[in-house]
Amino acid sequence: MAEKILEVKNLCTTFRTERGTMRAVDGVSFHINKGEILGVVGESGCGKSVTSQSILRLYDEKRTASYEGDILLEGKSVLSLKEKEMQAIRGYDIAMIFQDALSSLNPVFTIGDQIMETLRIHQNMDKEKAREETIEMLRLVGIPAPDKRVDQYPHELSGGMRQRAMIAIALACHPKVLIADEPTTALDVTIQAQIMELIKKLNEELDMGVMLITHDLAVVAETCSRVVVMYLGQIVEEGDVMDLFDNPLHPYTNGLMRSIPKLDGERQDRLYMIKGMVPLLSQIPKGCRFAPRCPYATDKCRKEMPELKTIEGNQKVRCFRVQEEV
Ligand SMILES: Nc1ncnc2c1ncn2[C@@H]1O[C@H](COP(=O)(O)OP(=O)(O)O)[C@@H](O)[C@H]1O
Ligand SMILES: [Mg+2]
Repeated sequence: MAEKILEVKNLCTTFRTERGTMRAVDGVSFHINKGEILGVVGESGCGKSVTSQSILRLYDEKRTASYEGDILLEGKSVLSLKEKEMQAIRGYDIAMIFQDALSSLNPVFTIGDQIMETLRIHQNMDKEKAREETIEMLRLVGIPAPDKRVDQYPHELSGGMRQRAMIAIALACHPKVLIADEPTTALDVTIQAQIMELIKKLNEELDMGVMLITHDLAVVAETCSRVVVMYLGQIVEEGDVMDLFDNPLHPYTNGLMRSIPKLDGERQDRLYMIKGMVPLLSQIPKGCRFAPRCPYATDKCRKEMPELKTIEGNQKVRCFRVQEEV
């Protein structure tokens, strides 16, 4: 049996806004095994980032959002921890990298300072040891001439190098889980591929669990073992990558698959588009949330909400049409 490193159980994240409460994540459950890369996909606005920020409890519970359900790190609840205890987990047991490295790096400190600080706080290293380890980290993430780069400021590095530096900072504490939220979206294609290779390599070498959020299914196919498909705050399909790509069950997953560019770079028949857009949280449709955009929706779909059910092996789907076929 694979060992679960992170488990999210029935997570609901509800924002308090001026126009009332809005539930951005609604009953999401999934797990990440030790050493596994789990892909999380879905169009923009489906709740991927809110899910990942909720795992780290980054929203202020007094002002911004409330959480329900549970989040377990190695079987221990994170949602019930006090803020102080949570701080010991953030960036230490669970680290996160974002799309935008420039805004998450501090412009007034050198790259080296920012990694060394993490090492000194979390691992109690002295200055000299921390510097050595920092250079080693920079080498590990493929930054050339790390003994020189260590003393440079973020603006002195290229976009790809900054992203590598951010990964080095995230990995400085040997996290058990790495959350990567669209880590390569801002980079050009060759650099994207290099960063994904790096995440894959580090995942293998350090045996950490990775939650890889991306809207790029081609990246998922190359990198992940399992994948979760989100639509409007819920999981609509989940399964092993191979099964999902061979046989996407949910009409939404199917639509996403049909919009992947072909391998030769040519886009197929002008690229299929799922009709319409992801609705706002203030306009969540009744019944199946995808029904208004679904080519197969029936009256039942527009009235009742299907549950996420196992169809075969590891593959689960939230769709009456598929569930009634088997
Ligand atoms: N701080 C917030 N307050 C209110 N609504 C929010 C907040 N952050 C995100 N949302 C809403 O939550 C939904 C999911 O957003 P997000 O998780 O960022 O989507 P994704 O990462 O999948 O593109 C969106 O409708 C978004 O407008
Ligand atoms: Mg996002």
